[in-house]
Amino acid sequence: MNDLRTAGQDAARLAADHLAAVPDAAVWRPVPQPDRDWLTGQSLPAAGRPLAELVDDVRARVLPYPMGNGHPRFFGWVNSAPNPAGVLVAPLAAALNPSCAGGDHAGPLLERTVVRWLADLLGYPHRPGGGLLTSGASVATIACLAAARQAAARAARWDVREDGLSGHPPMVLYLSAEGHSCLRKAAELLGLGARQLRMVPVDAGYRLDPGALRSLIAQDVAAGLNPFCVAASAGTVSTGAVDPLDEIADVAAEHGLWFHVDGAYGGLGVLADDASPDYAGMARADSLVLDPHKWLGVPVDCGCALVRDPVSLRDAFSLVPAYLRDDHARNDSDDFGWYSEYGPEQTRPFRALPAWATISHLGRQGITALVNETTGLARALADMVEEADDFELLAPVTTSITAFRYLPTGTDRTGTGQDLDDVNRALPAAVQRRGRVFLTGTRLGPTEALRACFLNPATGIGDLTVLLDEIRLAAAGLGTA
Ligand SMILES: Cc1ncc(COP(=O)(O)O)c(C=O)c1O
Repeated sequence: MNDLRTAGQDAARLAADHLAAVPDAAVWRPVPQPDRDWLTGQSLPAAGRPLAELVDDVRARVLPYPMGNGHPRFFGWVNSAPNPAGVLVAPLAAALNPSCAGGDHAGPLLERTVVRWLADLLGYPHRPGGGLLTSGASVATIACLAAARQAAARAARWDVREDGLSGHPPMVLYLSAEGHSCLRKAAELLGLGARQLRMVPVDAGYRLDPGALRSLIAQDVAAGLNPFCVAASAGTVSTGAVDPLDEIADVAAEHGLWFHVDGAYGGLGVLADDASPDYAGMARADSLVLDPHKWLGVPVDCGCALVRDPVSLRDAFSLVPAYLRDDHARNDSDDFGWYSEYGPEQTRPFRALPAWATISHLGRQGITALVNETTGLARALADMVEEADDFELLAPVTTSITAFRYLPTGTDRTGTGQDLDDVNRALPAAVQRRGRVFLTGTRLGPTEALRACFLNPATGIGDLTVLLDEIRLAAAGLGTA
């Protein structure tokens, strides 16, 4: 144990030094061949190695090659810097090393508070059992859509857990053309079939069009199919758009559909002082997904599935073999059972501890300030883009994502040509290679776009100028300035 004490103190210093040095280091850099070989090709050690040596290896070979998401100028995908409170307690969760499948110990008990807090932040109704932490939004989505599938089949007197879907009228899922790919993955995995997915067209703001949703449902009903669920987005991954949730909830209610909301990235945007009115209706969802490892900055991994009716998840997942019977007499007034009855995982890590620490450290005020500051950065970038001759804004800014494109000098602004798409497709990698900014791209309809996602409280307004300049320099390097 003395070994752990000494090496652990070194590791703690190393983590703190690493985080302090991040802003002055390259955002990202390619791994040189010798270290790449070490990372991928080590042989299995025959004899065990001392703890101190392992810390040295991490110092020399691992920490120098981050993904980049701790850096204030990382604007890629939806990956945040880790909140220090989460970093602080992660080793303590590992020291305890519980399985949060269930049982009577701190892990599952604390998870109940964290899930309730998350629902509270989103203004979503919550009862015990009305949600659980998952590895991320992808698994949370599987859990929610499994609950939706189970509820719909049960209403049609079909036992999907016993009989599967074979012979059942095709169950149709509606999602926006801008919906996240995890929805399709979940649908495929749940045996719904991608053919039964309807991509509902979006409006000019990349929001799901409720009128088009109505028409598609009518067509499917006329064809004898079985519409069962509509999945809307509270913050799409490409532009941060929020679908008109209240109107979609109305359509779902009219047709008896399960109303699911993907708020993995943007759910927290509801806290902004000037949050889009389109968030109204989020609390009407039957299920709602949020990723604390995105905007909140809880260290990966931490997703969350919330459901209006706790029975719906338990009904879809509960299986309690004899060896897992709960032997403790409880004082809890509710019949909660185990978390493993609410989702697909059995052994579950202590995700609640870093999430609890992060939320406690920030408080509601800190979280609201983070959301306001980062949405403010996205708007400020949009203004700069609109003022520049060589950039074009491609979508309204609703949350903390700015979608835009670069227009090489002399380009026709109305141009949709292949050249423009080629440049913007090539730019993210070129920008990343320069090491000062990390940017990723997307496709909006037929158009190649750049997108910058702001999640980091350490990002400042000056970083936006660096971002635009780096794009220009990268374009010059590609020979297209
Ligand atoms: C809107 C949205 N939904 C779902 C996901 C999937 O989340 P995860 O990667 O945590 O599974 C993402 C990831 O970026 C996302 O942005």
